[in-house]
Amino acid sequence: MKQKQLKILGVIGDPLSHSLSPLMHNAALATLKLPYIYMPFSIKKEALADFFKSLSERAICGFNVTIPHKQSVIPYLHSLSREARLIGAVNTVLVRGKKLIGYNTDGSGFLTSLEKEAQFQVRGKQVILLGAGGAARAIGVALGMDEAREVTIINRTAKKAFDLAAELGKKFPKTIFSVSPLDQIETSHWGLADLLVNATSMGLKGTKLWDLPLNHLPSHALITDIVYNPLETPLLKKAKKSKFKILPGWGMLLYQGMDSFEIWTKKKPPYEAMKKALLEGLAQSKL
Ligand code: ATR
Repeated sequence: MKQKQLKILGVIGDPLSHSLSPLMHNAALATLKLPYIYMPFSIKKEALADFFKSLSERAICGFNVTIPHKQSVIPYLHSLSREARLIGAVNTVLVRGKKLIGYNTDGSGFLTSLEKEAQFQVRGKQVILLGAGGAARAIGVALGMDEAREVTIINRTAKKAFDLAAELGKKFPKTIFSVSPLDQIETSHWGLADLLVNATSMGLKGTKLWDLPLNHLPSHALITDIVYNPLETPLLKKAKKSKFKILPGWGMLLYQGMDSFEIWTKKKPPYEAMKKALLEGLAQSKL
């Protein structure tokens, strides 16, 4: 009997040792019995050009992109989705014939995790966004696309917060993007906030957790963190103690993966199998 050749999916990045994507996607592929395998491709910055040169010789039909390549892959691609263009970064590439199409499912994954795991709709909501790096930009774009009422950005380096707010304000005129300095947090914003998102690594690896005025948040406020390892970050622990509803970062990771899976396979991703693989992988990983 002729064996069907497996099609290849994967992730490119460096380092990749902590990536949970192979576990999550291979569990999904096995559940749906699809003829693909998902592999990690450890590619250093200086090897990116060679990776794209050799792509046509391999049976790769799609891949995720992670640190440090999310922006540097863009010149190698033939087209970008609207989200990828707005975020200025790509986390998913679809190989269609000779064409490479870039997507970004981080923002959509974030929004879907809010909707499905916390029954939270962004439209018209007041949001506090901690951070102004790449992850905060993806989340800010998602909040703008879904027409949050106001997003207040707080960042350790104030200039980056002002730059991001100015950039997003131009892109999304229906949402107000404001900045609150970290050393003088404007608590009047906090009393109106429906959602607090942490897109920084503060409180991890021995760094200080900001002294945030959580007690000014209304009791219905949802607090979420994009960091998924540990599952309960110092911020989420504190929020839980204060009886706020929390959403850990596994949600965004799962739904960005589900969106990528659908882009490559055109199949509905198996939620239970992917979530189980992801949470088991997280439980076993020692960060
Ligand atoms: P990512 O792609 O994960 O967003 P990044 O672009 O390097 O990574 O951004 C990291 C974000 O976390 C930034 O907002 C950074 O603040 P600065 O702009 O001041 O650098 C924030 N950050 C990282 N470590 C932090 C810490 N120990 N305390 C507070 N903020 C921190």
